[in-house]
Amino acid sequence: MKTLIIKYLPTGESSNTKRVLDVFLSKIEKSSIEIVDLLKTEVPIFNEQSINAYYKRNYHGKSLNSEEAKLLEQNDSLIKQLKSASIIVLACPMHNFGFPALMKAYIDATTFHNETFAYDKKMMSGKKILTIFSSGGEYPNDIFNLNYPNWNSIALTAHATFNFMGFDEVKTVGTSLRNENNASQNLTIISNEIDNVVNNWYK
Ligand SMILES: Cc1cc2nc3c(=O)[nH]c(=O)nc-3n(C[C@H](O)[C@H](O)[C@H](O)COP(=O)(O)O)c2cc1C
Repeated sequence: MKTLIIKYLPTGESSNTKRVLDVFLSKIEKSSIEIVDLLKTEVPIFNEQSINAYYKRNYHGKSLNSEEAKLLEQNDSLIKQLKSASIIVLACPMHNFGFPALMKAYIDATTFHNETFAYDKKMMSGKKILTIFSSGGEYPNDIFNLNYPNWNSIALTAHATFNFMGFDEVKTVGTSLRNENNASQNLTIISNEIDNVVNNWYK
């Protein structure tokens, strides 16, 4: 059973999110792990040519010439890697109440019709996905509306997109480690949440 970790940790060694990801990694030491560091990975963003190639191939079922195929090569390789894992973990900080742009770009680059989602089929069935994030503020993971603090669009986007793709389970765990007065308490709480996920998913 392979675990694919997709990480975007621009603050490096001092990252709060890394502290939480390290807790997760320490609990799954024995499983096979592949790590994608988005700071070192080319993540494509659609332009006019590549989106036309995507529609042509993935919606209209037409084959592409070699030039068009090349435009989707990096998407295809990221999608192949994503589909090779049973458990996928995204790890990033919250930026502006949501996924940082590079993580969202990764999600957009791999959410492909007839590859990772379809309207009549759970394309990612048999797989589970966990999102780990840290934030400055504290937010509920399951209440979303226009009133602060219900602005956790990481959890909203993760649940909407990954359930749409047909994952068997979609979980998000987030915490704030900013405040010295409750950082260690919050780390204990999120470690327990991670324990629950790991005990269920790796039994
Ligand atoms: C560009 C930027 C945007 C941020 N936006 C938010 C935000 O919308 N809400 C929030 O609670 N914290 C926000 N933060 C704070 C970070 O989410 C928080 O400090 C987090 O723990 C940083 O994680 P890291 O140490 O792994 O980088 C933001 C930080 C940066 C640098």
